[in-house]
Amino acid sequence: MIAIGSDHGGFELKEHIKKYLEENGVPVKDYGTYSEDSVDYPDCADPVCRAVQDGTADSGILVCGTGIGISIAANKYKGIRAALCSDVYSATMAKQHNNANIICLGGRVTGRELAFMIVDAWRNAEFLGGRHAERVAKIHRYE
Ligand code: RB5
Repeated sequence: MIAIGSDHGGFELKEHIKKYLEENGVPVKDYGTYSEDSVDYPDCADPVCRAVQDGTADSGILVCGTGIGISIAANKYKGIRAALCSDVYSATMAKQHNNANIICLGGRVTGRELAFMIVDAWRNAEFLGGRHAERVAKIHRYE
């Protein structure tokens, strides 16, 4: 299951991504926000990060206006590797090299169709392990 969440700035794109994944048979759980009313992105990152941390979710998608605030917030959580992506190449690398367990997008930056491609690239890529696994392990040793 993929946990998905956003603040108000990412709400519209989050809704599109959720629908896209559901239509493609991907289990998704929406942790809010549920409207365009203003909310604080750290509060929106929190339940998604906790769901990934405790294994309730396999991975997560977070969206705010730029994707910046919500990715900064998510990367404060132990074990979370949140990658802010606005292109398909980075989304692929985020999984292959960094084993990103959360992908972040900017709802005011990235268009809907590109966002779907980014999410698919990240979902369909596989972590390459080897030297990349050693580097990822090092991130968490420094944590
Ligand atoms: C909200 O206006 C906006 O600051 C937020 O969505 C995000 O872009 C922060 O990084």
